[in-house]
Amino acid sequence: MLLEQAAALLHPHVPLEKEALLRRLERPPEPKLGDVAFPCFVLAKQLRRAPAAIAAELAETVAAAGKGVRAEAAGAYVNLFFDPAVWVGRIVDAALEPDYGRGGEEHVSRVVIDMSSPNIAKPLGVGHLRSTMIGHALANLYRETGHAVTTVNHLGDWGTQFGKLIVAYRRWGGKAALDADPIGESLRLYVRFHEEAADQPALEDEAREAFLRLEQGDEETTALWRFFVQASMKEFDRVYARLGVRFDAVLGESFYNDKLEPVLHRLRTLGLLEESDGALVVRLDEEGLPPCLILKKDGATIYPVRDIATAIYRKHAMKADRLLYVVGAEQQLHFKQVFGVLGKLGEPWTGDCEHVPFGLMTVEGKKMSTRRGKVVFLDEVLDEAVRRARGIIAAKSPNLPNADEVAEAVGIGAVVFGDLKNRRQLSVDFKLEEAVSFDGETGPYVQYTHARIASLLRKGGFGQPPAQEAADDATLAGDAVLPTADDASLAPDAALLLTADGASLASNAAFLTTGEAPLAADAGVAMTESAWTCAKRLTQWSDAVSEAVRDNEPSAVARYLLELARDFNRFYHDGKVIRPDDAAGTLARLRLSAAVGMLLGRGLKLLGIAAPERM
Ligand code: ARG
Repeated sequence: MLLEQAAALLHPHVPLEKEALLRRLERPPEPKLGDVAFPCFVLAKQLRRAPAAIAAELAETVAAAGKGVRAEAAGAYVNLFFDPAVWVGRIVDAALEPDYGRGGEEHVSRVVIDMSSPNIAKPLGVGHLRSTMIGHALANLYRETGHAVTTVNHLGDWGTQFGKLIVAYRRWGGKAALDADPIGESLRLYVRFHEEAADQPALEDEAREAFLRLEQGDEETTALWRFFVQASMKEFDRVYARLGVRFDAVLGESFYNDKLEPVLHRLRTLGLLEESDGALVVRLDEEGLPPCLILKKDGATIYPVRDIATAIYRKHAMKADRLLYVVGAEQQLHFKQVFGVLGKLGEPWTGDCEHVPFGLMTVEGKKMSTRRGKVVFLDEVLDEAVRRARGIIAAKSPNLPNADEVAEAVGIGAVVFGDLKNRRQLSVDFKLEEAVSFDGETGPYVQYTHARIASLLRKGGFGQPPAQEAADDATLAGDAVLPTADDASLAPDAALLLTADGASLASNAAFLTTGEAPLAADAGVAMTESAWTCAKRLTQWSDAVSEAVRDNEPSAVARYLLELARDFNRFYHDGKVIRPDDAAGTLARLRLSAAVGMLLGRGLKLLGIAAPERM
């Protein structure tokens, strides 16, 4: 908003297109350099004058225009200072609109996002958490910016490992054990198979045979396979539900079984298949890549062909304009090869395919490894996070009526935010203690700030009656001391205020902008430096969202939320928001708070994190 306003002011006086001018404008790092700066170097050549002279004249012209903006020349720059008494209210009005920051995207497309995609009969590990949550956030962000999104869970439900599992199950397994603990039992069988196969190599042959029978559609083997798939899926769905994640389609690798032959046929017809050590490969020398393995010696098709068939299906049957694969960086070569072979098949849309890689995540130093059975189960990480969150909440808000629900939201939010705040390519060692903390760069910190605002609005008389909300803005020296929201006497239904999308904040916001509270009611109310910093941060919301979409980088939004929360808390500690002797100021400060709260809620939701209204 400020950049646009600056451009509007400057445009009549500079020989630049509005768009070009807008791109040149800067947000100075220090308040004393103004809120928006225009570097005049670009005009020097055209105007045949020194940049400083241009800046001086421009500053004078603009200053005369008034409109709550002051201009100062500083060297080659024109620095613009917006009057907070005028502009906080205008920014808040805009930010309180439910559609704030939406629209304006011109090139919307259908994006198919491959995400999560765990392997059946193996636990969901923290790597799958990253794929699931980065994919989920991207899906939300693409939808937010007007794109049509289809999320696909490309389950690993096919492959030679099922031969092993079937053999192990027949020898050492049982239905009851598998029903009781599908993945744990599958894992035990899988581990046992590898142990026993170490001195009994014949087991490997048996497993190969079992898989072959599966590929040939043998009924009994297929039934067993289906049983494994369904058992695992039940477990996965429980974790997905906890994470609040759903998929538009669950199409496992087996879905493409009948779509592989046409691919092989085309590769053969085009003369792309070459023999190498008895296997068939496609050479990718021109692409500077090692050959892509297509068919193994025993005739078994392998992972890349499935992905080739999958991409073709997504392009044609699902009508994808873009195909994103949110998969760990260790599969970089695989995707380069798959896209390389697609190119060789003459598919002109290969450029629409993009691997969105992410770095390795360990939990407190432990990496997950399925073979040896030393596994960090995602579910256990979530449980532990929730347990710790419950402890913190019990200490801070002993009377919170829906403490369990909030602990679940905070614990899971901590894990998800702890993942998403990092640039995705970085490797992360996840530390629970740190992630669950209510201060620091954490999800709970953002959630807490959101809840603090909801509480402030209730106290201010908006939304839920304040009941006996504790004096929760008792003197706070910093975030180390947090208030306890003692909601002991709330009506039972007040406990149900937990919303994922800040719905009740949104209804407050509607109230704050209509009817009783006239638009830009704050005009003329003096605002502190911290209020102004906070308001300016509100104007950067859509930049954060666009950056996240442009770079497939949800961390841009996570970082923005941390900054917004930090700016708000500074404002909050800077002086009381609600002052009985200052009605106009109170309303202006509450409106600013409501706008921050709404964007925190919206941002958390985009990241797939719940935003409780009390914690
Ligand atoms: N199932 C694979 C794994 O767990 C990931 C699959 C990723 N998606 C794909 N289209 N290849 O490593």
